[in-house]
Amino acid sequence: PRVTVVGAGRVGSTLAQRIAEKNLADVVLLDIVEGMPQGLALDLLEARGLELHNRQIIGTNNYADTANSNIVVITAGFPRKPGMTRDNLLKINAKIVVESAKNAIAHSPHAIFIVVTNPLDVMTYLTWQTTGLPRNKVMGMAGVLDSARFETFIALELGILPADVKAMVLGSHGDLMLPLTRYATVNGIPITELLDTETIEKLVERTRNGGAEIVELMHTGGAFFAPASATSLMIESILLNQSRLLPVAAYLQGEYGLNDLFIGVPCRLGYGGVEKIVEVTLNDQEKAALQISANSVSNNIKKAQE
Ligand code: NAI
Repeated sequence: PRVTVVGAGRVGSTLAQRIAEKNLADVVLLDIVEGMPQGLALDLLEARGLELHNRQIIGTNNYADTANSNIVVITAGFPRKPGMTRDNLLKINAKIVVESAKNAIAHSPHAIFIVVTNPLDVMTYLTWQTTGLPRNKVMGMAGVLDSARFETFIALELGILPADVKAMVLGSHGDLMLPLTRYATVNGIPITELLDTETIEKLVERTRNGGAEIVELMHTGGAFFAPASATSLMIESILLNQSRLLPVAAYLQGEYGLNDLFIGVPCRLGYGGVEKIVEVTLNDQEKAALQISANSVSNNIKKAQE
């Protein structure tokens, strides 16, 4: 299989490395900056013999080279600077994402699209609109990352292995995200059995600010290692038809009482892309939080189209 990564910046180039070194697919790395994706591809190729994989990696500025990709990942666009919210990127990234989606679909009409560019839920909607693809073939990456952050903070607090913590973060990728604390467990034991309410609330807050915490520390740009890992996990579930149940920004048509927007919900990912959206029972408080999160996404979709 073949995966195109549009945007060869920090997330895109790290993702290309993960895909190739996990032996998932050949990779086409595309950017508007001339020479840069070609240089990165050559560097990755020179590591191929050392990492012992045999994947092709092409760097290009030309969409013709991306033809017949199985998956297109869009990471093109600007990351946040300290003090900025993801929503501040709306107008500038909308233009870049629409252009990327339009060019990519022209050469890979059967591809599944995974959007990474922020503000995530809105950029995923624009990609769906631009490509005209059925809803199962377009999704956004955010929930896997936000959940990994929540799991990491729980594991750090308890001094245990992060892989033993299972948690899902639903909703939009932003300050209004919804970490599902009631459903979070350590190998089946609810975290509410292991941590007091105040501590859990502190971990939820840190998760909500997980992206900003890194932006503030780094000053230039934001996280990219964990975002690349989260995206490659989704790609793996699709290409290997693993049917993993992951929180993914998906198009809702009545699920969770929401309509005509992309937002993070549990999805089964396989060959068909988003093959099933799972509706978990939410209590009144969680429902209200998801609704507020959805309202903000819907408002931003309107703003992006003005
Ligand atoms: P970066 O600045 O390192 O890379 C972005 C790349 O996009 C640059 O190489 C730039 O030349 C390229 N680009 C700009 N316009 C383009 C166009 N029209 N066509 C093709 N390429 C174009 O940024 P980074 O750190 O890789 O982040 C990329 C995006 O991903 C940002 O919007 C960031 O906020 C978002 N992000 C989203 C996450 C999520 O959870 N959904 C997590 C991390 C980042």
